[in-house]
Amino acid sequence: MTEGILAAIGRTPLVALRRLVPDAPFRIFAKLEACNPGGSIKDRAALGLLEGARRAGRIRPGTVVVESSSGNMGIGLAQACAVLGLRFVCVVDVRTTAQNIAILRAYGAEIDVVDAADPNGGGFLRARIARVRALVERLPDAFWPDQYGNPDNARAHRRTMHEIATALDGRIDVLFCPTSTCGTIRGCAEYVRARGLATTIVAVDAVGSVIFGPAGADPGAAAPVRLIPGHGAAVRPALFRDDVAAACVHVSDLECVAGCRRLVAREGILAGGSSGAAVTAIERLRDRIADGATVVAILPDRGERYLDTIYCDAWVRRHFGALPACDAEERESSGAARRTPPRARRRPLALRPPERTAAGARAVRGKA
Ligand SMILES: Cc1ncc(COP(=O)(O)O)c(C=O)c1O
Repeated sequence: MTEGILAAIGRTPLVALRRLVPDAPFRIFAKLEACNPGGSIKDRAALGLLEGARRAGRIRPGTVVVESSSGNMGIGLAQACAVLGLRFVCVVDVRTTAQNIAILRAYGAEIDVVDAADPNGGGFLRARIARVRALVERLPDAFWPDQYGNPDNARAHRRTMHEIATALDGRIDVLFCPTSTCGTIRGCAEYVRARGLATTIVAVDAVGSVIFGPAGADPGAAAPVRLIPGHGAAVRPALFRDDVAAACVHVSDLECVAGCRRLVAREGILAGGSSGAAVTAIERLRDRIADGATVVAILPDRGERYLDTIYCDAWVRRHFGALPACDAEERESSGAARRTPPRARRRPLALRPPERTAAGARAVRGKA
């Protein structure tokens, strides 16, 4: 099924980040999922979901694909449906950006907009899923990929982790993984377990998200409005499993902005909000990462779709009152002059038993 542009999905670059965390005694690599043809990691999941459906005989000529997405998954599905000649209805909500709707339409998707959040909690996500169910009932020969519950989503990411493991000979100590449906993290975790790799997986979630429980939000307070799409979820996804991550870091919207701006200023990578969250998570845990460790961050999408938000000073001032402190620091100091605080010695996050590493290196030589 990997015809035409779909054959270009995956095999994304893994690049070393040498300036992001000055004086870090560990190596950092970034998996640039922006390099997928539709612009995000969701190309992999979209293709995996449709391939799985085709194998199971769930889609054929005339099938209408219906899915809830405010961005990347919709774009990935729209791209794949265009190649496969399938009709695609994308259920979005009022917060979906005009740019994403324009991209979806350009790929030929039909747009169905949900304009009110679920009145019983669960935010827009639950309301969008209810709309998907109603459409699937109504449309003849409709197929709902169900990115939040379909194991084919996770399965697609065993290949993501296989690519990382192959590039680094199985020696990945810590993987930072932005998380929403849990497709990426679960696929990576399944691969790590199956191959016996000694990789500690850290989930990167949004403050206010409920995937890993209420941590990061004030338990008594109403869930904060999350302005940056991508990672986080208002409802725990069916793909979630307790053991997908050893730790979870909750990142605020402003920290995402700061992380994104540092990433582009120091590494020249213009990335989306969840990539900024991953950067923040590495910085937050830096004192717990063992000297000499190899750290990988998955950077799920590119920054062009966030020019009116994360990279717009007026938008940042309007929502947060001021620009993140890092902006002034970046302007004032050259890369060489940046000072970092001494590392506090605390619980190490990753200690790598050499024998497991060697086994892991052997294990990744096979296929995903
Ligand atoms: C930009 C971005 N980052 C991270 C994620 C999280 O990936 P997953 O849904 O596989 O957990 C998504 C998912 O939509 C995303 O769009």
